[in-house]
Amino acid sequence: KMVKVCSPGTSANLGPGYDVFGLALYEPYDTITVMKTDDSNDNDNKITITMEGEKCEEIPTDVDKNTAGVVAKKMMEDFDISDNIHIHIEKGIKPGSGLGSSSASCAGIAVAMNELFDLKLSKLELTQYASLGEAVAAGAPHADNVAPAIFGGFTMVVGYEPLEILHTPVEFEVLVALPNIQIPTKEARELVPKNIPIKDMVNNVGKACGMVYALHTNNIELFGKYMMHDAVVEPCRAPLIEGYSEVKEKVKDLVYGITISGSGPAIISLPKKEHILEVKKIFKETWNCPIYYTKVGPGAYVL
Ligand code: HSE
Repeated sequence: KMVKVCSPGTSANLGPGYDVFGLALYEPYDTITVMKTDDSNDNDNKITITMEGEKCEEIPTDVDKNTAGVVAKKMMEDFDISDNIHIHIEKGIKPGSGLGSSSASCAGIAVAMNELFDLKLSKLELTQYASLGEAVAAGAPHADNVAPAIFGGFTMVVGYEPLEILHTPVEFEVLVALPNIQIPTKEARELVPKNIPIKDMVNNVGKACGMVYALHTNNIELFGKYMMHDAVVEPCRAPLIEGYSEVKEKVKDLVYGITISGSGPAIISLPKKEHILEVKKIFKETWNCPIYYTKVGPGAYVL
């Protein structure tokens, strides 16, 4: 038996919601296939992994180092699964892009294992498993990419210990640019200040609350406006993305909002329909890079 799962890219933080907010996209996505294999040649290595896609040669296929491998292994231990499995990952999301590439694989494998072995886990439990893989990739089990990859729509990680996720299905379009710059999440996390002035905390809590209010009143303009006012994380990371400050200035009247996606270098914007071509042109001229015009999606699903 084999199960195939489509697991989407996600955009974390959305400005003031560092490690809290996340959005599932339709594109790009990874496809994860898991199958039971019979080659029980009595070694401990019950899980084999192969990968294909852009830059996937940079990702280890060793079970304990591969984010999906770690998730699958833990699920097999917890549920006493003694089958041998093979995982094949088609990476449609470029690793280190800021679009939750590792999270998509972690979420996809959790959903696939749940289906293959009929584990009947809740979305919260699947998110918990998936975030174990994220710890391997980012050095911290932040769940703001795996949560939307599993729940779809817009998610809020309202607590980490224990993990608590709130979820709102939303519908809007996004324009994402993927500059060809490498920013390892681990390094980008080291740039985040350990202590912040209370006024910055007040700003970010205020803006984040405003964004949630905006979603619930269907006000994309307000959502985008507050998304641009992160006083804590984006100012530290923006210098890593050459051209970003200039782009932000150039497009400010053409989009509802724009910010760094996750730890970057991807940039997520909420375009005004009538200006999409102009914004695309500015992205292209600055970065000459892939651009995704996509919308909020449903999260990982079995194909
Ligand atoms: N919240 C995480 C960070 C997302 O900004 O480091 C990583 O993609």
